[in-house]
Amino acid sequence: MSDTTDTGAGTAAETAGGATSSAPSRRSLLGWGGAGLALGAAAAGGAVAAVRGDGGDAVPAADSGAAVPFYGVHQAGIATAVQDRLHFAAFDVTTKDRGELIRLLKEWTAAAARMTAGQTVGEGAYGGLAEAPPDDTGEALGLKPSRLTLTIGFGPSLFAKGRFGLEGKRPEALLDIEKFPGDNLDPARSDGDLCVQACADDPQVAVHAIRNLARIGMGRTAIRWSQLGFGKTSSTTPDAQTPRNMMGFKDGTRNISGTDTAALDKHVWVGEKDGSPWMTGGSYLVARRIRMHIETWDRTGLQEQEDVFGRDKGEGAPVGKAKERDEPFLKAMKPNAHVRLAHPDSNGGATILRRGYSFTDGTDGLGRLEAGLFFIAYQRDVRKGFLPVQRSLARNKDALNEYIQHVSSAIFAVPPGVRDKDDWWGRALFS
Ligand code: HEM
Repeated sequence: MSDTTDTGAGTAAETAGGATSSAPSRRSLLGWGGAGLALGAAAAGGAVAAVRGDGGDAVPAADSGAAVPFYGVHQAGIATAVQDRLHFAAFDVTTKDRGELIRLLKEWTAAAARMTAGQTVGEGAYGGLAEAPPDDTGEALGLKPSRLTLTIGFGPSLFAKGRFGLEGKRPEALLDIEKFPGDNLDPARSDGDLCVQACADDPQVAVHAIRNLARIGMGRTAIRWSQLGFGKTSSTTPDAQTPRNMMGFKDGTRNISGTDTAALDKHVWVGEKDGSPWMTGGSYLVARRIRMHIETWDRTGLQEQEDVFGRDKGEGAPVGKAKERDEPFLKAMKPNAHVRLAHPDSNGGATILRRGYSFTDGTDGLGRLEAGLFFIAYQRDVRKGFLPVQRSLARNKDALNEYIQHVSSAIFAVPPGVRDKDDWWGRALFS
């Protein structure tokens, strides 16, 4: 991350598409605490962040130090080749002022454009006024962009009546997710007005990004909950080696490829006629923290483990087949095998893009690993994606259910991409 110093916060904010009409100088920010610190962030935002094409991102997973272009028709972090690490944060909006919220989103956009390009927030981490906290927290100095992507989403509560005048704009697809049999949801770790998914190949880069956005939001937003993910459990690049989840199985074999524009258009990106024009080019995100009963799993025989998924552990091939990529023959699997119940053929064609991460948050008070899958799915319409699949898994007693428990849940409307330096996260929603 380079420590480029901006010259003149006023000019910077104007360049950011009116992040503020009369941006204060660096000096006048003194005493504001964290709020407003990103105002200078926009200065080089337009200059440094490149524009993506319509489909997936041009940056291959192998190029782990590179920058993923920030600007594009769709937000990065969805079709992007899955990075190794995750820091996912859900925020409560604490301000009641719609104008303040809009200002925050503009400031976040400017800071995100810089951080994804490998640059510091605002005037950097050092070299400024000795009396003021630096604009950037500094822990990503010297690190590469690491394919950092920042993806924002808006939760149902943001659209509540009497808050920000958005009640008429809540998409039907942004529904309140029902409680499924077996769910044991912790409200303190669920939901949220906003979310930011930070993915990068370097954990410090992802954590730095969330930390700095949280800092910019001080006084206007507060982190409600957050989740670190240390290993991807899905792949959007079919030619890459499929990662393994905490149960030791290849995960993400049959997923939508980030370069399959036809499948992305059909199953992931919201279309013009889908009912909420401001969401065109966006997607819907469902996040579920799924705890695994690791110790029970580790005492389970190999045959049972393979029966649970309907795939073998070594190669990842479906039952009766030799290779991972062979087409599954569902009837050869046990009726309650996870793959059989989750497959589109069992759910009226429902197809999702999975982008989850393994997590381990130490141990619980009983010495058991507090570990599992932070499941993330993107889809064009939750009613034709996550909902039918999860209903099938929960109601038809997925064999996996004995070894897992869903402990948190959230849904977000992920708006389309930021087109250029004059655009900002959520512009179409608030206009
Ligand atoms: C801890 C929980 C879970 C684990 C460990 C897990 C693991 C796996 C594994 C190993 C596969 C086979 C390889 C592959 O094609 O990716 C798979 C497939 C799949 N899973 Fe999961 N999964 C979990 C939860 C879920 C949930 C909650 C959903 C959706 C509601 C889901 C949807 C799918 C789908 C759609 C497939 C592909 C089926 C196909 O087309 O063959 N999984 N999962």
